[in-house]
Amino acid sequence: MTPINKVLRDNNVEINPIWIMRQAGRYLPEFREIRKRNPNFINLCLNEKLSSEITLQPLKRFDLDAAIIFSDILMIPYGLNQKVEFKKNFGPILGDLDFKKMLKLDEVDFVKKVQPVYKAINLVKNNDLTNNKSTIGFVGAPWTLLVYMVNKQSPKKNLKKDFYKDDFLINKVLIILEKFLKIHIKNQIDNGAEVIQIFDSWAGLLNEKDLSNFIYLPTLNLVEYIKSFNIPVICFPKGIKDYKEYCRIIKPDAVCIDYEVDPLKILKDIKIPVQGGMDPKVLLSDKESIKKEAKKYLDIFKDHPYIFNLGHGVLPETDPNMMDYLVKMVKDY
Ligand code: CP3
Repeated sequence: MTPINKVLRDNNVEINPIWIMRQAGRYLPEFREIRKRNPNFINLCLNEKLSSEITLQPLKRFDLDAAIIFSDILMIPYGLNQKVEFKKNFGPILGDLDFKKMLKLDEVDFVKKVQPVYKAINLVKNNDLTNNKSTIGFVGAPWTLLVYMVNKQSPKKNLKKDFYKDDFLINKVLIILEKFLKIHIKNQIDNGAEVIQIFDSWAGLLNEKDLSNFIYLPTLNLVEYIKSFNIPVICFPKGIKDYKEYCRIIKPDAVCIDYEVDPLKILKDIKIPVQGGMDPKVLLSDKESIKKEAKKYLDIFKDHPYIFNLGHGVLPETDPNMMDYLVKMVKDY
């Protein structure tokens, strides 16, 4: 069993496997090199040769315990025929929702459109660099995808004023998302994903009264679907106020925590395996601080099943040498 699976499946507390969200990305010069030659980000995700190569780049440098497939949560709206673009220094921009097109789309068309993602997983899974490591597939949570599809850009701190205006539209999108997220998950598993992470990056935007409809019910549905294949699922409800209640309802195999929650409170409240937590900004400081912060998390979760990770994706301005230092430090702990 891979180290990550030992934690997820056996609740092993002896080991501290490590992988990092956005471990394949802009902080690596070898990624920027490929990116320079491929200005269209979606097309890069749809090039299985390059996306599998990018996925493996951090594994060539660091002794990480997982490969997370280089793709994006916005491949779902793309596969659903919504226009998706990435503007430099701005982030994603999505086109208008066209239900006529979306409703006409069947499983075969969708899978054909995003097929290179599954091919890339296959290439990664069968590469020697991932021996005894977990190949992680992922999806955006229904709520976070709804946010991008309806808001049509990152909400930063707030959703557009009229976000909730059209109830019918919101519910229709959620129904479509449920169907195609399941298709996307199943194809990732069939092609070698051994763990699935669900990213709910905008969980923190909701009021408590809306959590059931937009987060608990749709996410529980996906988590149960993933578990039905005997595949462990990690949930990352970034910014959610009550991680304890989230875990009680959703029951993922592990919960990934963001950098704003108190790890001591998590230790007290949560019995399932925990992942992540350390602020990505710490990697912009010095080795002393990195050691101190990483050690804080490792000490707190010493007797708890714990996968080391950050509390959000690694920042583009991170020095790869600092990542190297962190991975070695965690391995030597
Ligand atoms: O973790 C990994 O290494 C796997 C690859 C991965 C990417 N995006 C690659 C990527 C994963 C897991 C994601 C998930 C994702 N995508 C999320 C959830 C996690 C989170 O960050 O909260 C979200 C919200 C998105 C949507 C998205 N994609 C945003 C907001 C951006 C940043 C836009 C920008 O220009 O800053 C992206 C682009 C993106 N996705 C990049 C990478 C490596 C950078 C693209 C580039 O090179 O310009």
